[in-house]
Amino acid sequence: ISYPDYLRLLPKAELHCHFIATMRPGMILELADRNGVVLPTRDIDSLLDSDNLQDFLTLFVTANDVLRTADDFADVAYQGVVDAVRDGNLRYREYFVNSQNSRRYLAYPDLVDGVIDGLRRAEREFGVGFRIVNAINRALSPEDAVAMVREMIDHPRDEVVGIGQDHLTEDGREAPGMWVEAYRLAEANGLRRTAHVAETLPADPESVLVAIDDLHVDRIDHGYRAADDPDVLARLVESQVPVACTPISTLVLSGWAPEPDHRIARLIRAGANVTLSTDDAVFFRTDLGREYVEGLGGMGFGPDVAKRVSLAGVEAAWCDEAQKARLR
Ligand code: ADE
Ligand code: ZN
Repeated sequence: ISYPDYLRLLPKAELHCHFIATMRPGMILELADRNGVVLPTRDIDSLLDSDNLQDFLTLFVTANDVLRTADDFADVAYQGVVDAVRDGNLRYREYFVNSQNSRRYLAYPDLVDGVIDGLRRAEREFGVGFRIVNAINRALSPEDAVAMVREMIDHPRDEVVGIGQDHLTEDGREAPGMWVEAYRLAEANGLRRTAHVAETLPADPESVLVAIDDLHVDRIDHGYRAADDPDVLARLVESQVPVACTPISTLVLSGWAPEPDHRIARLIRAGANVTLSTDDAVFFRTDLGREYVEGLGGMGFGPDVAKRVSLAGVEAAWCDEAQKARLR
């Protein structure tokens, strides 16, 4: 078996996956028609054409807007699993949903019930486990984030296990510490916590430490800039907080091609607890297999590291022990 085939077939757990970006391009058009939403263009290539975080986030909002009902969410959830099983032998996935973005159309409990319906159906057919993480839209206010967490507490679901983040370019305007109240409320109510930090320039490497020390995260999304600061890197390694890295998304958004000096490669060589994910599979035209083949392979890592990274995804998952045992 060739190394690329080995990497594609390796069973995988994915932890950093935005639900909206698992939606097939054809489905964006189909749901737009179903719900009478006018898209900026019906040409898929120009719709998906984004090579910077700002354009990408515009696309993210546009795509989000075509989903209106719980059934829409269920349909997107189901087809996303079908694709990921085919492309990268997905066995378990944690999804970032974004209840704030759909609030105008759909109440929080209806949204998550739709997602759960679709993912349960896929789980029965393909055996792919899942958990759901509600992502704070960082373009909205800290108060709005607190309201989002309160909604989660008022409508608990076994499948919804924590909070994360999305939106906003890290251009220095935002400090990760501004979300501390939402994170404290989540922590006090037994919700797990992850944060998007230090994704691209000029984000501050120190934001990794703010996430660990102030937001009390049990996971970090991206975190690449830690590789540029020896003290931050040492703390990240010492903490062993899992880092959900996304090679192809950094290639598209930051122009950082997979090579041995890539920041993710430096994190791995330093001993950080790195896992691999797609971030936004359809929008970055990637899949979990490609993250391993082009990402890890391009960074020069062999099968031992690949195996270790894929298992790190299982260990860092927010599911129960019985499910982890099945995934190991
Ligand atoms: N929303 C979805 N993916 C994102 C990313 N990588 N950075 C910021 N916001 C996002
Ligand atoms: Zn992300």
